[in-house]
Parts: sequence; C-alpha cells; structure tokens
Amino acid sequence: MSLAGKVALVTGAGRGIGLEIGRLLAAGGMAVGLNDVDGDAAARAGAELSSPGGQCLGLPGDVTSRAQVDAMFDRLETELGPVWLLVNNAGVYHSAPAWELSEEAWDRDFAVDAKGAFLCSQAAIRRMIPRRGGRIVNVASIAGLIVRTRQISYCAAKAAVIHFSRCLAVEVAPHGITVNCLCPGMTRTEMLMRSAAERGMKLEDYEAAIPAGHMARPEDHARLVAYLASEEAAHVTGQVISVDGGQSLNLPLTLKS
Ligand SMILES: NC(=O)c1ccc[n+]([C@@H]2O[C@H](COP(=O)([O-])OP(=O)(O)OC[C@H]3O[C@@H](n4cnc5c(N)ncnc54)[C@H](O)[C@@H]3O)[C@@H](O)[C@H]2O)c1
Repeated sequence: MSLAGKVALVTGAGRGIGLEIGRLLAAGGMAVGLNDVDGDAAARAGAELSSPGGQCLGLPGDVTSRAQVDAMFDRLETELGPVWLLVNNAGVYHSAPAWELSEEAWDRDFAVDAKGAFLCSQAAIRRMIPRRGGRIVNVASIAGLIVRTRQISYCAAKAAVIHFSRCLAVEVAPHGITVNCLCPGMTRTEMLMRSAAERGMKLEDYEAAIPAGHMARPEDHARLVAYLASEEAAHVTGQVISVDGGQSLNLPLTLKS
C-alpha cells in the first residue's frame, strides 16, 4: 500500500499493539514517531524500529498533557516531517466493582483513553488542515461496544472514543482528513495478561468465547491501520471496525431473563 515516505505518530507505542502498529508502518516505508509515557520504552522502540534502514523516533510524553503533546508534535515534524497519520493507541484500564472504583481511577481512564485522543487529534488536525489531508485512527476496544463487568470506567471511556471518532470524522471530512475507529478484541499483550490475572482467568477460557477460536494478534490490528492510512482508504471515514474474531457478536446463552 501507498505509505512510503509519509510520517506517522503512534501513541502508547513502547510495547504491545502500538509497537506492532509502528513496526508494520515502518516496514511499509513510513517514518514513525513512537510515543510512550514510559520514556525508556519509547526510546527502545525508536531504536529497534530504526534498524535496519527505518526512520523512527522515540517520543517520550504523556498524552494527557497538552504541553507534552504539542512538544511531541513539534519534535516529530522537525525531525521526521509533516504528520500524515495519527494513531491514538495509548490506553489504560482500572478494574473494580462499579461501586468500589475510586474517583482517581475513573478520571485516569478517561484522561488517557478519551482526553488523550482528543488532545492528540487536535494537535494533528491543526497541522493537517492547511495541508488539506491526513488520517486519524483511534484505538478503542470492543469493551466500548459490549458489556464487560468490573471495568466500568474503561468501557465508558472506550465508548466515548467510539462516538468521538464518528463526530470528528464528519467535522474534518471537508478538510480531506479521515477518522476511523479500531476496536480490538482480546489480544495477547501485557494489558490482557494483567486483566486475566486479576480475574483469575486462563487465556484458554477467554479463547473459548471467541468464535474464531483464538485471540487477535497485534499484527491483525496493525494491518487494518496500514489500510486506513493508505490512499486506497481515502473515502473510508467515520467507521468503527472490530478486529476480534467475532468476539463482540458472540453473546453468551447463559444470560438470566
Ligand atoms: N490487549 C487487548 O486485549 C486490548 C483489547 C482491546 C483494546 N485494547 C486497546 O489497545 C491499546 C493498546 O493496548 P495494549 O494491549 O498494547 O496495552 P499495553 O498496556 O500493553 O500498552 C499500552 C502502552 O500505552 C502506554 N501509555 C499508557 N498511558 C500513557 C499515556 N498517558 N501517554 C502515553 N502512553 C501511555 C503504556 O506505557 C504502554 O506502553 C489500548 O488503547 C487498549 O485499551 C487492547
């Protein structure tokens, strides 16, 4: 696909899904800024994807801080060039029964998952409008589409990201910018391993609920992002696409009436 020579910024790219998105975009010839609040992880990702031949940059920064977001975009554009693609991938979750969740946990999930996408999108769009083009992909979750217990702030924040994506898509379409939303199903990363341990669940139990019989791999998400960033997807906007092996469609038959 036609990605070569363009510049991307992927947030939360120090590990997991974000790192694999960065890897595939760099393999397609993009220059990629790899942001993470963990500065060491961002630096490692930048170094790893720069060799051999890639042009990548680790960008430490917290997506919940407007000042850090602006500084990150300035550095990206100075060192790599004008941003074409923003992938809002950074995410966190807190887990507790709804009636026990702390106010701080609620605020942090909304700050990183929802406000972070807003701040980064705003910084990107202000740069994209004068150039009359660009792409934004927001990484939400099927947790924003279906019910998941003990993660109410995460589910609500991801639902916010989904509708944010649709609203923003319409607002920026006249400027040649597309906005789409990727909803991963369960994917084997550090985030999922922590969630499984907290619930006392085995990964096989999770996989039994997925019609395809196995979890997504980070590369499955990366391939959709590469498509949405390409010329081939120029007319695709405001879409919410689950990459989940059918997991979000598979309601259990054990619901009590
Ligand atoms: N793994 C799954 O099963 C799954 C399923 C659905 C959606 N998702 C979503 O996919 C995205 C990536 O998930 P993952 O599984 O790779 O998670 P992960 O926890 O392995 O990686 C997330 C990265 O985001 C970084 N980060 C956290 N807060 C940040 C901040 N304020 N600013 C910048 N970076 C920050 C972390 O340091 C980490 O490197 C998240 O938005 C997550 O909600 C994951």
